[in-house]
Amino acid sequence: MSVSQAFIRGIPKAELHLHIEGSLEPELMFSLGKQNKVDIPFKSVEEVRAAYAFSNLQDFLDIYYQGANVLQTEQDFQALALAYFERLHADGGVHAEIFFDPETHTDRGLPFSVAIEGLLAGMSEAQMKYGVTSKLIMCFLRHLDEESSFRTLKAAEPYLDRITGVGLDSSEKGHPPSKFARVFKAAKERGLKIVAHAGEEGPPEYVQEALDILQVDRIDHGNRALEDAALVQRLVNDGMTLTVCPLSNLKLCVVHDLKDHPMKRMLQLGLKATCNSDDPAYFGGYVGDNYIRTAAAVGLDRNDIVTLAKNSFTGSFLDKASIGRHLAAVDSFVAAI
Ligand code: ADE
Ligand code: ZN
Repeated sequence: MSVSQAFIRGIPKAELHLHIEGSLEPELMFSLGKQNKVDIPFKSVEEVRAAYAFSNLQDFLDIYYQGANVLQTEQDFQALALAYFERLHADGGVHAEIFFDPETHTDRGLPFSVAIEGLLAGMSEAQMKYGVTSKLIMCFLRHLDEESSFRTLKAAEPYLDRITGVGLDSSEKGHPPSKFARVFKAAKERGLKIVAHAGEEGPPEYVQEALDILQVDRIDHGNRALEDAALVQRLVNDGMTLTVCPLSNLKLCVVHDLKDHPMKRMLQLGLKATCNSDDPAYFGGYVGDNYIRTAAAVGLDRNDIVTLAKNSFTGSFLDKASIGRHLAAVDSFVAAI
């Protein structure tokens, strides 16, 4: 039996894989571009949307980094975050652990403080307005060198009590996790949680490196781990959370049809998969759409949806008591249907 959209949108859930710069909708891009006098190489919102046809990760990243140029002030970052949390709330989201890419902003001359102060203000505002809680994960851009990540970690020092973890994103192929072994060790020594994009386009060996060398607490994506049965077994045995992003996988041609998406298979294998939007303004859907379209394409049933929602909390960096409260809320929601 197919699951209703109301059930999917209504079930309490957390989002664990969301690049806040990837939630910049073309309308906000245009209004900020105008306000901040930053040129956008498109004439209209429709033209921007038409340009979002990607054949791989790099195609997307080139446009995504360009879009981020319109973000200039703390208020811009605050507005960006608040707009995302409004969408999350409408999709039954009650908690999010959001990524930001400091180097995307510091490398174009913004002080480190601008993005983070704005995002923290947006996160507090969202908690007051929508009751949505959130945590911040700072990602290092893997196409840059490790020295740049070290500079970023140093710049983050005054904020480490408000940063939950560090991640690794951007162009995966040719930039293995091992390139960042030292900076992740330093981050771990500072008590930060560790996540890394691995196995999105890169081979299963990158997932292995993320586990062995970076000692990750979660794997972002992880699709290509499925090519290695022993690695799958290890991920299952470890209860390792995978933050899977189906519509992103479709738009970046990791899968060519959503019907071929491995979400159902991941759950059947016992992998602790979660469902997330990655860069929703670019990939055609927020977290609710990711659940709904994937459920329809690969036949997720009600139990699968409940599993994904529960995995989103047990895989989060919330404290045990909060996780317990969210799991009880999922059970109450299901019981009331
Ligand atoms: N940065 C933003 N979205 C990303 C993705 N899907 N993979 C790697 N880096 C990213
Ligand atoms: Zn991502």
